[in-house]
Amino acid sequence: MHHQLICPAIAAAFFALGHCSPALGQSATNAKGVRADPENPRYTHRAQHSRDGIGKFYMGREIAHVMGHLGAGWLERPSREVEEKPQTLIRSLKLKKGDNVADIGVGTGYFARRIARVIGPKGTVYGVDIQPEMLELLAQNLGKLGIKNVKGVLGTIRNPNLPANSIDLTLMVDVYHEFSHPHEMLQNICHALKPGGRIAFVEYRMEDPNVPIKLLHKMSQLQVMKEATPHPLEWVETISALPRQHVIVFKKTVATPAAK
Ligand SMILES: C[S@@+](CC[C@H](N)C(=O)[O-])C[C@H]1O[C@@H](n2cnc3c(N)ncnc32)[C@H](O)[C@@H]1O
Repeated sequence: MHHQLICPAIAAAFFALGHCSPALGQSATNAKGVRADPENPRYTHRAQHSRDGIGKFYMGREIAHVMGHLGAGWLERPSREVEEKPQTLIRSLKLKKGDNVADIGVGTGYFARRIARVIGPKGTVYGVDIQPEMLELLAQNLGKLGIKNVKGVLGTIRNPNLPANSIDLTLMVDVYHEFSHPHEMLQNICHALKPGGRIAFVEYRMEDPNVPIKLLHKMSQLQVMKEATPHPLEWVETISALPRQHVIVFKKTVATPAAK
């Protein structure tokens, strides 16, 4: 839900989750109103920031608000077929029967449902979300279709709570830019990937001014590369087959411990 033109009723359905803005404690503020994060010095907090963001910055980027579950209908809008070409995305990921896939920020399961068919009954989709209401909608949608190989997983803002070395592909569609703790999330995702397992960032292209999405909900390829750099990830490919998004794929190089 990140269109620049957005009706007020839908806009009201989006809100920041309270736990996205950690308490700042007593950390010092400089003359420009910038404060270090008291828990993790990788992050800063700025008094002046976009209304679309939480005022927390990572590697020069302001983190966006989490999309609230009251806006879940937007994830199932019919125009997504044309705007995002979900089947083209899934084909481009070259999944195999029996793969274990983590769909992080699963929402209503728009992608998880489609991936479940491709990997077949021997594969599993772990549908991770931090909002129990989204997992409830996911379960309802799966129940209606009789899909059995998608498991809902309640994650936290730092950790998707997945078993170590178990995942072949982690998919993140339109979600990474709203992680309140992107560094910890990537560290824990790496911990959950099998060696050689892949991670795909699917983000609206910041480089393209014609993509009608708010700036904080877009990411450039360069920014994704920068934020992947601290982790044991090697760039594999960037897929440019979608109308509005790019798919930036990395693979895990070495085993790492989980982040707290
Ligand atoms: C914009 S929606 C996208 C949903 C889905 N990927 C899709 O494209 O249909 C983002 C979802 O990510 C979830 N989310 C945000 N931060 C998260 C985190 N740290 N871990 C797991 N899910 C998260 C939100 O609760 C929301 O359901």
